[in-house]
Amino acid sequence: MIAYILFSVLAILPLLLYLRNRYVFTDFRYATAMIKIAMQMAKFKKRKPFYSILDSFLDKVAKQPNKQFILFEESSYTYSQADKESNKVARALSTHAHLKEGDTVAVFLGNEPQFVWTWLALAKLGCTASLLNCNIRSKSLLHCFSCCEAKVLVAGEDLQGAVEEVLPALKEQGVRVFILSEHCDVEGIESFSDKIQQASDQPLSPQLRANINMSSRALYIYTSGTTGLPKAAVINHERLWLSSFFQSMVGIRSNDIVYVYLPLYHSAGFLMGLCGAMEKGITIVLKRKFSASNFWNDCRKYNITVIQYIGEIMRYLCNTPKRDNDRDHKVRLAMGNGIRTDTWAEFLQRFGDIRICEVYGATEGNIGFVNYVGKVGAIGKEHFLHKMGCKYALIRYDTEKEEPVKDSRGFCIEVPRGETGLLVAKIGERAPFVGYAKNQQQTEKKKLRDVFVKGDLYFNSGDLLRIDDEGFIFFQDRIGDTFRWKGENVATTEVADHLLMVDCVEEANVYGVKVPGHEGRIGMAALVLKENMDFDGQAAYQHIKHYLPSYARPRFIRIQNALLLTGTFKQMKRKLAEEGFNLAAVTDPLFYLVDNKGYVPMTQEIFDAIAEGRTRL
Ligand SMILES: *[C@@H]1O[C@H](CO)[C@@H](O)[C@H](O)[C@H]1NC(C)=O
Ligand SMILES: *[C@@H]1O[C@H](CO)[C@@H](O)[C@H](O)[C@H]1NC(C)=O
Repeated sequence: MIAYILFSVLAILPLLLYLRNRYVFTDFRYATAMIKIAMQMAKFKKRKPFYSILDSFLDKVAKQPNKQFILFEESSYTYSQADKESNKVARALSTHAHLKEGDTVAVFLGNEPQFVWTWLALAKLGCTASLLNCNIRSKSLLHCFSCCEAKVLVAGEDLQGAVEEVLPALKEQGVRVFILSEHCDVEGIESFSDKIQQASDQPLSPQLRANINMSSRALYIYTSGTTGLPKAAVINHERLWLSSFFQSMVGIRSNDIVYVYLPLYHSAGFLMGLCGAMEKGITIVLKRKFSASNFWNDCRKYNITVIQYIGEIMRYLCNTPKRDNDRDHKVRLAMGNGIRTDTWAEFLQRFGDIRICEVYGATEGNIGFVNYVGKVGAIGKEHFLHKMGCKYALIRYDTEKEEPVKDSRGFCIEVPRGETGLLVAKIGERAPFVGYAKNQQQTEKKKLRDVFVKGDLYFNSGDLLRIDDEGFIFFQDRIGDTFRWKGENVATTEVADHLLMVDCVEEANVYGVKVPGHEGRIGMAALVLKENMDFDGQAAYQHIKHYLPSYARPRFIRIQNALLLTGTFKQMKRKLAEEGFNLAAVTDPLFYLVDNKGYVPMTQEIFDAIAEGRTRL
């Protein structure tokens, strides 16, 4: 009898657990994955000689030499071919650039196989690669160069013009410049493709990289600040390993084929895409750049099963004209970040049953989250194991003063569950923050001291998040992506979401602008209209009046032909905010919201009345 009761209780135990927490099984699966990764990391840390992601790649070469590694346009390269190609590059670099362990080489290349060979080559020589954004030019380019103190530059043939622009300064710094072409007549630039072709493809001695360890610098990745010059985030080998495990955490399998079209000079493409693939030994389809019209054709052509995304990309895909074969593909998983709730639902409805896995983390940050249960709208889910690994908190933040709110003793205040706060993560051995190369000031700016007790140290993520009762984490805004008006904080994304629901609006960029004689900033939106449609001020007003409180309504509307985007597809806001609603500075059509009436074309008269304070907003 007792045995029977015991058995019955055990039998319903899973159900009881499930009723208490619907996600108990996924939580458990995730915990298992995390424990496995933690154990593997611990093993790697002890292993002598040091085992790097390159060694993991070389193991795959030995185990599966003929498996496809990279598919690019009409070419394909097996693991063995990739190994040999990179041996040639390494030998050419060693012979002609006289590189030695610990040197830094700047890589100025778009997404192409040569990028991967060059990186592998540098790893084989024990060198650090500085991944330059191939869209930057002149002053920014030189700035990135001097951050990492590279003595050698390897550039793509198509970027020769950009290199020539800064050549005098590079010469002055004694930088050797190699261009991936057969020959080059410009003095100071050496051709490199011919040298690679002449080099042997025999393996290089591991002795060349004998002093590299977990904390050695593997890479510099530049983070595109919305203001100022790019910052070089230092990625050491430990970080490289941890990011490459993300693929396992989101459930990528060794027979998957991953589509890598995001730039390899950023962390999403390089760390999560390329390095993740090397760690698992899988096939990637490399693409020069994103193309909405070719996206699904590529997925069909290469049998792609996993795609990466950023939110805007998902919206672009949803905005393409509907086709009959929208669901004809093998994509089963999408990993990325920043997809909006409405786009998420639309994407699934249109393109079929694809698991969307949001991951959260900054290139240089010491904390990340994974939405492993696929809850629509969340960027992650809390997990107690995670909390044990890295202590983090959401603290109260004053968006007007742009600083954390302090209590009477001068410490930060953790927000109650359900409220929005700034994510901070404790810096420690298990969650280190390496910072930016040669930029102590910016590194310090990301650190918060004396957060909860005297002497503690936290990483300031710059992101405002909210965590609900079930532990789901929601992105609210980036600091600076809110404006404060009439004592209220307004999230620009929220206003943009509503503007996008207006029939004539294709894209919306919302920001706050200063008004003479007023505190804070008032809402303004730059809109791109749908093809062949005019701005319907009445429809916009009716919608906004219905859904947004008066303080959140955009008082000014600016119509643009296209929105300005940064290199990582983020909307540019600062420049627009500076131009404001001044007719003298803005040539785009402007509209002004008259209280209880609607949007009317902006006139000099209205502007003067506001500027002179005759009209209070
Ligand atoms: C790793 O190598 C650096 C030199 O490159 C050295 O200073 C450091 O002590 C080494 N760390 C470990 C854990 O061996
Ligand atoms: C894609 O899969 C189909 C059917 O499984 C196969 O016939 C085809 O050869 C594959 N294409 C590629 C590029 O691997």
